[in-house]
Amino acid sequence: MLMRELRFGWAVAAALAGCLLTLPAAAQPQTQIIVNFEDGSAQGFEPRAGQEVLEVSAQSAKSGRYALQVTGRKQDWNGPSLRIDTIVEEGAEYIVTAWVHALGPDSSNFRLSTQIGEGASASYANLAAATASFNTGWVELRGSYRYSNTSSGYITLYIENDTADAEYLIDDITVQKKEGSDVRADLALPSLKQLYQDAFLIGTAFSPQDLHGVRFDLLRHHFNAATAENMMKPVTLQSAPGVYAFDGADQAVQTLLDAGLALHGHTLAWHQQSPVWLNTDARGKPISRQEAERNLVQYARDVAVHFAGKVTSWDVLNEAMMDNPPNPSSWQDSLRKSGWFLAFANGAKAPQGGADYVAAVFLAAREADPSAVLYYNDYNLDDQDKAQAVAAMVKQVNEEYLAQGHDRLLIEGVGMQGHYHLGTKAEDVEASLRRFIDLGVRVSITELDVTVGSAAKQGLTPQQELQQAAQYARLFQIYKQYAQHIDRVTFWGMDDGTSWRAPQFPLLFRADLSAKPAFFAVADPEGFLAGYDDTPQAPAVRRGRAAYGTPQLGSDDALWQQAEPFAIDQMLQAWDTASGEARVLWDKHYLYVRVQAGDDVPHSSGAQAQDRDSVEVFLDEANGKTSAFNADDARYLVDIENRADAYPEGGGEGFASAVSVQDHGYTVELKLPFRRVAPRAGRIIGFDIQINDAQSGARTGAAIWNDISGNAGQDPSRWGEIELIAPADEQAQTADPVIAGPAKRQAQPALGSAALWGLAAGGAIAAVACAILVRKRKRK
Ligand code: XIL
Repeated sequence: MLMRELRFGWAVAAALAGCLLTLPAAAQPQTQIIVNFEDGSAQGFEPRAGQEVLEVSAQSAKSGRYALQVTGRKQDWNGPSLRIDTIVEEGAEYIVTAWVHALGPDSSNFRLSTQIGEGASASYANLAAATASFNTGWVELRGSYRYSNTSSGYITLYIENDTADAEYLIDDITVQKKEGSDVRADLALPSLKQLYQDAFLIGTAFSPQDLHGVRFDLLRHHFNAATAENMMKPVTLQSAPGVYAFDGADQAVQTLLDAGLALHGHTLAWHQQSPVWLNTDARGKPISRQEAERNLVQYARDVAVHFAGKVTSWDVLNEAMMDNPPNPSSWQDSLRKSGWFLAFANGAKAPQGGADYVAAVFLAAREADPSAVLYYNDYNLDDQDKAQAVAAMVKQVNEEYLAQGHDRLLIEGVGMQGHYHLGTKAEDVEASLRRFIDLGVRVSITELDVTVGSAAKQGLTPQQELQQAAQYARLFQIYKQYAQHIDRVTFWGMDDGTSWRAPQFPLLFRADLSAKPAFFAVADPEGFLAGYDDTPQAPAVRRGRAAYGTPQLGSDDALWQQAEPFAIDQMLQAWDTASGEARVLWDKHYLYVRVQAGDDVPHSSGAQAQDRDSVEVFLDEANGKTSAFNADDARYLVDIENRADAYPEGGGEGFASAVSVQDHGYTVELKLPFRRVAPRAGRIIGFDIQINDAQSGARTGAAIWNDISGNAGQDPSRWGEIELIAPADEQAQTADPVIAGPAKRQAQPALGSAALWGLAAGGAIAAVACAILVRKRKRK
């Protein structure tokens, strides 16, 4: 066993022992590894690819005398690797640290990673990264990981480097179980599937890690339906034309069928997670209509035939409609210009364009598996315009099918994905539900989760957990009311730790599988809401700070660094493609805003301003928080090509903007005149920033700083606030100096309770602090 082979360097042992003695007994790590090479051996490290050369070396060490030198690498994933399966307990979280020292002169990127399983079913995760060159000296990589499934019996840690032949030293590798991180699934809780057995199926998205151990117990306890989170998507099932990889999905499907669950197939046609060649050639151009039709029909048929008799329903077509369609009364115009649409349009006779790909894929699925219920599936369907376009599509496709003499609908169900957030309005969800029910189709909620936009890294505050629970309760009240028309309510995963939206804690169970208030709210929505104070509370308003100074636009002025960054991190749409950071400065006449937007591919073809990569800034000079625009309110939009659009028109005297584009993003700088209010230190101004990310002429993602209502462009009442901070030379004279910096930030309402939360997590934090202490002592 690995632990027994390891020998502590005496300094580490003494320091660590001393440190551990000061911790309460319960906080002591139960399992840990410390590797420091002080016995002159590699202490279990092996070359990951076989060809790497690992030698204990005394040229430099993080602590003690020795480190491990790594040479002979040929690819980025090569490096030293250590088996840790001997100590990892299933479900628990581990804190991992390692020190690296680059030997080459050039800087390169290190990654500390973990591998779970071997061969085709292996999965990998990066725990930490750092850039370093020889002169940087020793650099720490620190991360953590929860090992949800240890059934493979093979788990390693390894240290890789983006530069294929980079050479380096490693030292002082520690692996320590995070105190209190054991799983706490409670199988005595009432089962959701039983509570809702007379209403609808209760489903979950699943990944391979869910089909084993305690996760599988939890899954079987609460759910009677399942959708593969990724395993049945085109990109997973088909690697090359005619080459299918069904093994993984088949195994999972069988396991779930044996456990008595209903299987829902997801998805046959989609613009994402699909092999590009299905509809697009090597130069990025759409293939011909005939070829595309052949590929689409062939794929849908092969896959639907393969799973026939196993799945009860299919998401035949996923996310075909654009967001915020400008002309929702035409569903054809509102279709996303996806690879499938464009290829079907390539050679089509007008006026149908490429829109008939919709019926084509449903027809293929019907023919291949007549027993399956066929769904159209999409997100943001609480948006009435998008819902209108989808309803029109479903209606027309079905009418044409019936007119051909069929006695059954072609699109039999609409899947409302349900990627919601705290700002989602239950009445919008209900309006869309009714709209689809009125078409005579079934409805399923297919990917339900409720994100909390301003969540701190450590987790939700008790108040946020309750707000989230209330949102789930309101949704379930509606679902129960329309249960007759609803087949299934599927959550997009079981727990926050493995959710695709993990940083926003959107699900019913925490990462340790304990039930959140959201679980109890779903189990009994009426009961929950009866005990919940639902008087609309003013949502906590984010308050940022503008530093004093007059920057020169477009010059990367160093002044910006004096302003604190604002994270534009609250998503307004299901896909989180938009993100960025802003800084704000002010002087006696203007407010200056610099937004750094992350963006991989610039898109500026959209006809409407918001459908291009762009940045919006909202300003309420008197901070009147009115629900309609007054004379002191302004809105500015600047797109990636520096085209500006402002309200009031022209943006006011002196309004100017500059844009620069980088490899993975772009920077917008704006100079906004104070038009109505004389700025002075201490003044609070209503303020918000939104980043729009576009693709092929349509907005695909939007993120905002404060106002998550989705209505910031019309209604100033929910914008955030900024405080104008006194110039540095005046600050010294004020009695109560306002000093920018992290200490002050923690006192803000949104972060304050997160800090408390951190204190509550005492044991774990003490352990980490202890590790840091050890390191400090050794450095002397
Ligand atoms: C998501 C998965 O959850 C992620 O693991 C994956 O990286 C991306 O796709 N709409 C859908 C789902 O239809 O397939 C998406 O699933 C979430 C949004």
